[in-house]
Amino acid sequence: MCGIIGYIGSGNACNIVVSGLHRLEYRGYDSAGLALCAPENNKILSLKAEGKIAALEEEIARNLPDSLSDSYSLGIGHTRWATHGAPNLTNAHPHLSNDGQFAIVHNGIIENYSALKNKLTRKGYTFESETDSEVIVHLIAECYEDDLRRAVAAAIEQLDGTFGIAVVSSKHPDTIIAARKGSPICVGVCDNGTIIASDVSAIVNHTNKVIFLDDGDILTASATNIDITNFKSIPVTRELTHIDWDVGEIEKGGYEHFMLKEMFEQPHALANVTRGRLLIDDGNTKLSGMQMDPYEMSRIASMVLAACGTSMYAGMVGKYYFEDLASLPSDIQQAAEFRYRNPIIQRDTCMIAISQSGETADTLAAVREAQQKGATVMGICNVVGSTIAREVGRGVYLHAGPEIGVASTKAFTCQVTVLAMMAILFGRARRLSLQAGRELVGELSRLPELAEAVLAQSDNILKIAEKYAQMENFFYIGRGYMFPAAMEGALKLKEISYIHAEGYHAAELKHGPIALLEENVPIVACVPEFSGKIKTIGNMQECRARKSPVIAIATEGDKEIDEVCDDIIRIPKCNELFAPIPVVIAEQLFAYHIAKLRGCSIDQPRNLAKSVTVE
Ligand code: G6P
Repeated sequence: MCGIIGYIGSGNACNIVVSGLHRLEYRGYDSAGLALCAPENNKILSLKAEGKIAALEEEIARNLPDSLSDSYSLGIGHTRWATHGAPNLTNAHPHLSNDGQFAIVHNGIIENYSALKNKLTRKGYTFESETDSEVIVHLIAECYEDDLRRAVAAAIEQLDGTFGIAVVSSKHPDTIIAARKGSPICVGVCDNGTIIASDVSAIVNHTNKVIFLDDGDILTASATNIDITNFKSIPVTRELTHIDWDVGEIEKGGYEHFMLKEMFEQPHALANVTRGRLLIDDGNTKLSGMQMDPYEMSRIASMVLAACGTSMYAGMVGKYYFEDLASLPSDIQQAAEFRYRNPIIQRDTCMIAISQSGETADTLAAVREAQQKGATVMGICNVVGSTIAREVGRGVYLHAGPEIGVASTKAFTCQVTVLAMMAILFGRARRLSLQAGRELVGELSRLPELAEAVLAQSDNILKIAEKYAQMENFFYIGRGYMFPAAMEGALKLKEISYIHAEGYHAAELKHGPIALLEENVPIVACVPEFSGKIKTIGNMQECRARKSPVIAIATEGDKEIDEVCDDIIRIPKCNELFAPIPVVIAEQLFAYHIAKLRGCSIDQPRNLAKSVTVE
């Protein structure tokens, strides 16, 4: 979703902002723009373009000769993912005040923009765009006397909704002001200046030491200094966070797509997520970030898992883990629904919020709702220092490294692994035996090799993908632990190939969707060796009887499957509890190859955003 970048310092602000915008591209966007200021020039130069950043670069080349580019020492930039108003040039950010002396970029949604717009229009301000964001810049111009920070503080006091903003003014070419309420902003001070962004991935190539603003903070940044106050202008101190990503991790490293790179990173990511956390002799796991002792764990009476998208399907697997391994009544909740229901949360309920980015608005809202109702709330996040991670204050990081491809891959397999480790920990504090714990922990230590074995099938999976790449409808089916795997497989395919794909419980297919089956509607059946295999084979037969081709994801050496499908993707033998991991890796590869064969934009699929920071 929308991204913000800002720079002030001795470097070339235009180049630094544009390269920051490239780092933010993965979030999903449909237009981009920047605003530049130079000390000796009392005008803001603003350039925007519809579509990709390449179009903005062409615009810059047309309007800003190289000889002048160096004179700009301050800039803010934005990638916009349209909410209010079409994805076009006028709606692209930055938005400028009528006198051209203030420019803002904004992430989030201003809910009272319509009332503010009417008020400002009556005062003579003219609006160019259909966005909610434009009111902010006119309000700042209206509130300005001679202090930019104070003007921003006075303007944001009038805003309802969420925002992360960066503001510049030609009257203050030595300052960027940023503020946050609900949309992340972070800042890093590096050798040649100060860089702010909505996302650490646009900062880590400058510095690994980052400060995250809290909601209610206003940042004043100069080339060498930063000051943070709250909205009431009282100074506040924020901790420095060390981000352990290196620049290579946010680049493709020879792979054609980030998604491909991230799929192939899974053996390494699974080794990282389990490193130091598996206690094989004790049949247990060690997750210090949960900050929970066995006594506390034994007093938890139920689990609520809340998440969106792929993280929600990881949570579905987690629900089964908590039931099977920890004998805990568990539920997986769509975070967007949770916040608007009246969920029953008791004192002894534990909520686990699962979010790769740690910024998903609905998941964050679910966290706040559960906290409000007195639940113990933990997070499973990948991005260190992200909002959910900070607000819950306890939980488990994935340490999977940055995930840039919009379609989540390594985060899913690591989330499932963390959920298994958590369930074992809760289980050992309850009824899980030492012997059972040892077996499970031993199996978890094999995950990197299981992932490796599936990735080695990539060429075979490509051959199967070639057969089906032109189909327009797919069903994915599974039971038990294979049900969430089916849901996730269908999500991967639709996200990146734009093929209509639905995940279904294998038995539920009969209650409606079976009416759609015919020879052009293939079925992907998740059917490794597990307790639901025979029944799933029955469901596959039902599909074949309706002429649907069946692609099975099955265990190597399982001959029984040969007779009941048209194509087979093999995964290694493993404990059925952990089979969602190799099965989903096979599905990721299948979706990837199909999308590539169809010529789709794999890392930045149309309309999708990596981190959904609005409701
Ligand atoms: C977006 C992404 C998905 C992701 C979901 C939840 O829809 O495109 O890939 O699964 O958000 O994101 P989170 O960061 O909370 O895991």
